[in-house]
Order: sequence, then C-alpha cells, then structure tokens
Amino acid sequence: MTKKSMDKIMALSKRRGFVYQASEIYGGLNGFWDYGPLGAQLKKNLRDAWWQDMVMNPCGGALGPNGEPVRIVPLDTTIIQHPKVWEASGHIAGFNDPQVDCRETKARYRADHVLVYGPKSGDRGGKPFFAYMPESPSETKQKKKAEKAFGEVVSFPLTKVAKEDWASVLGPDADKVGSLTEPRAFNLMFKTYIGATATEEDVAYLRPETAQGMFVQFKNVIDTTRVKVPFGIASTGKSFRNEVTPRNFTFRSREFEQMEMEFFCHESEARAWYAFWRDTRMAWWKSLGLEGENLQLREHDADELAHYAKNGAGTSDVEYRFPFTYPGFGELEGVAHRSNFDLSEHQKHSRQNLEYFDAERGELLPNGQHKGEKYLPHVIEPAAGLDRGILAVLCEAFTEDASRPSPELMRFHPRLAPIKAGVFPLVNKEGMPEISEKLYKELFKRFSRHGFVEHDVKQAIGKRYARMDEAGCPYCFTIDGETAASQTVTVRDRDTGAQERLALDRVGDWLSEKLGLG
Ligand code: GAP
Repeated sequence: MTKKSMDKIMALSKRRGFVYQASEIYGGLNGFWDYGPLGAQLKKNLRDAWWQDMVMNPCGGALGPNGEPVRIVPLDTTIIQHPKVWEASGHIAGFNDPQVDCRETKARYRADHVLVYGPKSGDRGGKPFFAYMPESPSETKQKKKAEKAFGEVVSFPLTKVAKEDWASVLGPDADKVGSLTEPRAFNLMFKTYIGATATEEDVAYLRPETAQGMFVQFKNVIDTTRVKVPFGIASTGKSFRNEVTPRNFTFRSREFEQMEMEFFCHESEARAWYAFWRDTRMAWWKSLGLEGENLQLREHDADELAHYAKNGAGTSDVEYRFPFTYPGFGELEGVAHRSNFDLSEHQKHSRQNLEYFDAERGELLPNGQHKGEKYLPHVIEPAAGLDRGILAVLCEAFTEDASRPSPELMRFHPRLAPIKAGVFPLVNKEGMPEISEKLYKELFKRFSRHGFVEHDVKQAIGKRYARMDEAGCPYCFTIDGETAASQTVTVRDRDTGAQERLALDRVGDWLSEKLGLG
C-alpha cells in the first residue's frame, strides 16, 4: 500500500476536465470547486448509482431485517428553509467550530485542526510553541525551527496549550510570537436575507444539511403517500457550510452535495436497522470499486457522538484512506441512529403533532386487529457526501504505470466511468471510418444516457488509447483491417491492455453486460 500523490491527482483532474477551481479566472474562491465535463458526468453517475440503489431499487431488492422489501421514497426540498427549522435542529445554537485568527497574517484556522511543536523534555526555556497546519508548508518550516530551539520535539493539538501560554505560540505563517487570537466559536451556517428590506427579521440560512427538509416534510409524506413505517425518505442536493479552513481539495468545501436518507422505524427495531444500514452502505461503496485496505467502517466512540445521536444505538463512519489522511482515514459517509431527536424537536418547535399512528402495533383485540400505537419514529440516517465520494473515486482510480502509453490512468469502475466506450478506426481510410462511424452512432444511441461515447479518428492508435486511459474509459473498440471481412472488431480492456475480437453485431450487448446494465 503506497501513498498516492495528491498533487498529481489534482493536476490530472484539472488537465482532463474533472475538477476546476471555482471562479478561477478571478483567482479562485477558497472552498468552492466546479466540475468540468468529465467531472460533471462522473458526479452524475455516482448520484444516479445512489438514486438507483437507494430509491428506485433499494439495496438491489434485498430484504430488510423485518423480512420485507425495503421501501424508500424520494423528496426534493429547498435550500432555504424556515429559520425555525435550524433552531429546532440545534444548528443555530450548536453548529459551531472554534476558530483562531492570526493578527499578523490575517489567516484564519480551525483551532482543532492546528498542531504545535514543543520540546520533548517539557521545558521550553522561554521559547515559543511552533504552531502548524498538518500537510501544509508550515509543517516542515515550523518543525525545523522547533528542532533548532529544542532538539527533540513532540507535536500535540493547539487546543491543549494552556491559556496562560497562548501568548507564547508562533502562528503557522507568522513571524512574531503571540499573534494568534484565542479560539472563538464560529457558526458555520451561511446567512442570507429574504426579501428586499434585509433587516434582522429577514435573516435566513442556506441549509448545512439536506436532512432537515426530510424531517420537516415527514408528516406530509405519511399523509399523501401509502408508505408505512418502517420506510425511508431520500434526498440529494447542495448543502453549505462556512468552513473555517476548507482544505484538501474538495474534501472540506463550503458548498457541497449530500446524498442522505432518513429511515423511520419503531424504536424497538432501531438497533437492527442501524446494523443493516451500516453494513449495506459499506457494501455499496465497495461495489463501486472502493475495495480493500483503503476502505474501513469505524464505530464512533461515545465521546464522538453528535448531539442528536447521543442516546442511540451508535454511529459508524464509512472511511476512505485519502492520500492526505494516509496512513489514516477520512469520513466518506456517516450512518447514525438519530433516535427521535429531530421529529421530537420539530414537534416541539412547530407545535404540530408529528406522531405516526401504527395500526399494526399495540394490543391484539378480540377481532384479530391491533389496537394501534402512536409514536415518534426513530431514525437511522446514512448521510453521504457526493463530492467526497467523487474525491475518493478519483483517488482510488488514479494509477501510475510508467510502462504504459499513458503513465497516469484512471481505473474507474465501469458503472461510474464518465466515458463508457471509445470507438476508433485503426486508420482513417480503407472503409474503416465508415464502419466505426456506424458503430459509434449505435453505441451513442444506446449508452449516452449513462455517459459519453467517443469517436476518435485522429493520431496513432496508441495515443488514442492513452487519451482514453487517462480519462478512465473502460473499453475501446477498434475497427481494423480484418473487420470488413470477418465482421469483428477488437475490444481493449483499459486495466489490462488486453485485446480480444468480438462480433461487430454483439458489441452493444457485450458493453451493456460489462457496464452492469443487464
Ligand atoms: N445529516 C447529517 C450530516 O450532515 P455530516 O457527517 O455532517 O452529517 C454527511 O455530513 C457527509 O457530508 C459527510 O460524511 C461528508 O461526506 C459530507 N460533508 C460534510 N461536510 C462537508 C464539507 N465541508 N465538504 C464536503 N463534504 C462534506
């Protein structure tokens, strides 16, 4: 297991049109990213895979722990919700990160992300602590200074520095000691104003998670559809967090997309559904190629649990080993038992009864029917980040192989690959372009709703393969000198470079099978 180069992954992402810095021609905007043509399609493919496997055909038709098919309905809610939604959810009071500012450089840091170097002996002898941001140029720079000052050094979180020593910290990019302010709570929600007057009464927020829209519409979904608990509500969409220190490419952005599902069940079944969703979601990421040592499931310790998950069966994170967390892992998706925290808070704040009447529970009556039971369902929430998912997919796919025509290639799972197939005439003459054009049109018609199909007639065939490898296209079909007589083409596998011959009239079905489209 080796650490991949994040710089190379970012360079390829830019070069091949996966990810661009937002507003780049104006110098960029910290924490915001755009997706280029290949990235936009890759993102759509991941979102579509989630939608298919969570909403249209949940868990591929597998039965839930209650022995019945899993039922999930979709919902599309607004980015701006009533401000009271965020009071009820706890985001106005509690969605804070501690920030420190540097008076000298004007840089802002998330206090819990900053580390410091101090002497191993514990005796500073009047010298400063040297603060740094891991994985930034300040890390090596400050380490050198600390080693010069103390010899052997140890590193620990800035938040562990005693209050009276705060003035003795040299900020990550500062020249003078004592420039860091003490940590202050900073609310991560983006504020905006509704309407023209822009007074404090018009304040609203861009949602920091898609989840709350689903809790707020729970009653409407129950009343207007035929769903019965247990069932889920699923949404995808943009969320916004004014992160103190956005970093690590798209990993911590200020605008990002989530794919969340709130699964409502009776309290007595919450533990079983929690285990079901934790394992199902882990298996889903694996099925998309994030296999092996780079993926892990981690159960939260009691002191890590979010306020809404304190009293539940637990929280687990599906984590990926990103190059910038290596050899550690970073969160890709959280699966939390949120108890009935959200529905009960919304019930309190809205003064609306959000209880569910379950006709199949309660005492069994002499007529064979149940008396029924009213309750606020418990919720299991698998909450995934689409952009983080794309980042993990980009990191996993990125492969270096100096022996190949393209020394860097992207090994995307065929289901996610933005380009599904390439079609080439070996040479641009002898009737080959006509056959390849015809095959291209056939594949385009059949597969373009899943991704691009490319027809490339320019340059040597090796160069064309290399271009496709770098873009992560899994299969290339080539019309060559034998095609006209044998009615066969070659198909080249991106990962192995191996080629085989296929009947021309079987190419569509063959590709469909390989892409998992049946
Ligand atoms: N409703 C629960 C919730 O939002 P979360 O762990 O804060 O939970 C869920 O977010 C997922 O959203 C994370 O696992 C991550 O993939 C993604 N996410 C959260 N903050 C993000 C950020 N600043 N940039 C990119 N993705 C983020």
